[in-house]
This record gives sequence, C-alpha cells and structure tokens, in this order.
Amino acid sequence: MTGTDNERARKAAEGLAYSSGFGNEHSSEAVPGALPVGRNSPQRAPLGLYAEQLSGSAFTEPRSHNRRSWLYRIRPSAAHPPFVRANRGEIRSAPFTECLPDPNRLRWDPLPAPADPTDFIDGLWTLGGNGDATQRTGMAVHLYHVNASMERRVFGNADGELLIVPERGGLLLRTEFGLLRVEPGHVALIPRGVRFRVELLDAAPDGTGPTARGYVCENYGRPFELPHLGPIGANGLANARDFLAPTAAYEDVEGPVEVVNKFCGHLWTATYDHSPLDVVAWHGNHVPYVYDLRRFNVIGSISYDHPDPSIFTVLTSPSDTPGLAGVDFVVFAPRWLVGEDTFRPPYFHRNVMTEYMGLIEGAYDAKAAGKGGFVPGGGSLHNMMSAHGPDRETFERASAAELVPQKIDDGLAFMFETRWPLTLTEQARDAGHRQRGYDDVWQGLQRHFRP
Ligand SMILES: [Fe+2]
Repeated sequence: MTGTDNERARKAAEGLAYSSGFGNEHSSEAVPGALPVGRNSPQRAPLGLYAEQLSGSAFTEPRSHNRRSWLYRIRPSAAHPPFVRANRGEIRSAPFTECLPDPNRLRWDPLPAPADPTDFIDGLWTLGGNGDATQRTGMAVHLYHVNASMERRVFGNADGELLIVPERGGLLLRTEFGLLRVEPGHVALIPRGVRFRVELLDAAPDGTGPTARGYVCENYGRPFELPHLGPIGANGLANARDFLAPTAAYEDVEGPVEVVNKFCGHLWTATYDHSPLDVVAWHGNHVPYVYDLRRFNVIGSISYDHPDPSIFTVLTSPSDTPGLAGVDFVVFAPRWLVGEDTFRPPYFHRNVMTEYMGLIEGAYDAKAAGKGGFVPGGGSLHNMMSAHGPDRETFERASAAELVPQKIDDGLAFMFETRWPLTLTEQARDAGHRQRGYDDVWQGLQRHFRP
C-alpha cells in the first residue's frame, strides 16, 4: 500500500455519520429517493436499482431474533461468475481436528509482523475454536497482523459473524452498508454474509508503513445480542444507543474486483466485473456496527466479593439452553474497586466454560505485564476446567493491600468465553511466539495454612 492510499483511507474515515442503536431497524440512503417507501420490492425499484433481501435468520424465527436487511444496489449480488477454490492461507475453521484438545494453560506473545505485504484476508491466522461451521455452532479465535489494505478485494463470510477487536492500528471497514471506522478500544461486527473491505489507517510505531494488529472472534452460532439485564434494570453494561451502524455509501466501480467468500471453512474466489459494495440504500436490522468499549457501563460490587465476570458481558451469543452462551464477549474496562474485606483481583477459578483472553492496552489486574507476561496483542487460553487465577505476585500484593477505593484504569482486557473446549490449530500449538513457561506464573504460591 502506498502512502497515498493510506491518506485516502484516512480521509474517507473522517467525520463519518452513523445510525445509533442495537438490533433496531435502521435505514439509510446515499442518494435521496433511493429507498422505496411503503414496500420492500416495488415493481421497479427507485433510480433503477435492484432490490435484494439479505436474510441473517430463517424467515420464521421469532420476531425477537429475526434478522434481515433489504439492499438497493446497482447490480444484484446474483450477477457473478462461479467461485473457485482458493488458498486459505492460515485460516482454519471448525471442526478443529489438527490437534488434541489440550488441558494445559497456554499463552502467546503477539503475532509476529508479516515479512511480505499482507492484507486482512491473507493475514488472518487461526488460533483455534470449537463447534462446526457447517452446523452453525461454536466459534473460532483468529488473530491478524497486517501491513496492507485490501485492494480491489472484498471479503464475505458465510460461516458466521466476525467480531473484530483491533489492538494496534485503526481500520476503515468499507461494507455493503457503508463505512465504519474502528480504532483500538473499539470493536466492530460484520454480520454473516456481509461483504466488506479492510483498509489500514495508521503507520507502525517505527514509522515503517501501515500496520494493524488485533483479534477476531468468529461466531458460527446465533448472532451476538445484548445480554439480559435482570435486576440491573433497564440500563447498564453496553447501552444500545452506543452501537453505531454505518450510513449508506456505495462504490460505482467497474473492472475486476476479487470477491473472497469463506464458505464451510474454505476460501472461494471469483472475479467480478464490478465492486459488490454498490448498495445505494438499505434498511433492516442485519447490519454491521461499531462500539466504543470505553462506553461500557461497568457494574460491580459496592459491598464485598468480586462479582463473576459475566457482569462484564458486552455481547452474548445465546444457545438453546437458557443462560448458556455459545460465546460471550466480555470486557475488563476501567473501573473502581471498593469491596471491603475482599480479595479484589479475579479469584482462583476452574470453569466449565473456556476462556480466551486478550489485551488491547496496558495491563490486566491479575497478571504481571511486561516481556514474557500478558502483553497487549498477546493472548491466553484457559480451557475447560483448567485451573487459573492471579499469579503469585498479584496474590501476595492483593492479600496484603490496604482496601482503600482503587481505580483500575491502566488496561483494557477482554475475553471470548465459550461453552465448549477450544482446540488449537497446529500453527498455534507450534508457534514460536507461544510462551513455553506459562505454568511458571503459578509456581511459588506459598503454603499459608495454619491449623
Ligand atoms: Fe476464569
């Protein structure tokens, strides 16, 4: 990517207009009059556009879960040549069968920088996952470390929705629905089937050119929704009004554009004679969105004990069992700790759920930071029933700390918590950036028992 292209992306990302809300009906038109009034599919759609429905749920799912959008586009999506198999690079999908599920606690340093020009599709590196993409169950954890914008290339994922969690470098997502700017500290969601292109906004810290690094949760299951709030009430955690959908923006581009389609775990490619990001107007609730994690309304104990981390749930993908998520997205955002007679860091834990943690910035309050520790861009995996919790240093410090009100404001960590064990890919198991000594974190925890 050239500096000029980077500037073009930065300019396009300035002052974007958004439509606010979660799960509601949005509507937007880039050209006045492009959106039909009073019906979805008139005999002749306005301005010579094609009307097309994108169904994110079965037609007959309950209204509370029903998701679809109507797109008014220059050409219908059906106007494309056959897809042919493409190299899937380092992308893997469920079912994950390369490795045995591993009961050990595992941790990785950040994904190394690519040696060659690498865009978002080529840079996706799968750590592992569970379930089965063809059965629309489970999830996958991917990482990316890329140095190039996608050029005349568009990606779409039939296998599930993509929750993108940037850690370094802002992204401009050009989607069928319009443009989203996603900075570190924000997350973006691309729904199943929605086409998009990723452009890079920022230079590497050493000034060597564009770069972006982060995490992706691919959710094969039910689309993420906001968790029920129960006794918390009508407000709190992630508030619906802070989710921002794009406003319509279209490309009227002729000439070859490669469309890469991830379908049942493999990549397929076709060269279109136009850009499929040609939607001039749309309405519906199956839409991409961006959310600023610092808007999260953190709720915690004002008496004693550390609440279970489910209190930090931003988004949840429900299963058929009430309260049991296919995957939860949880954020550990800046907050006050005020609990009395309370061990304030996260407690020692064994969990039927599986926890993958990442760090967007700063440090996490249960783990030492710095080289060889839990660092931004790195990640840890605590599989089903693996024992984890604060390291020795954190335990000793927290056990002796004077319990004055304390602001935790030097980090932004998150968790993908999933119902099934997470099985690694071979590349994650064998990666040079996997920390071989992670168990050492819990060595030296002293015996204090005094019967
Ligand atoms: Fe845990």
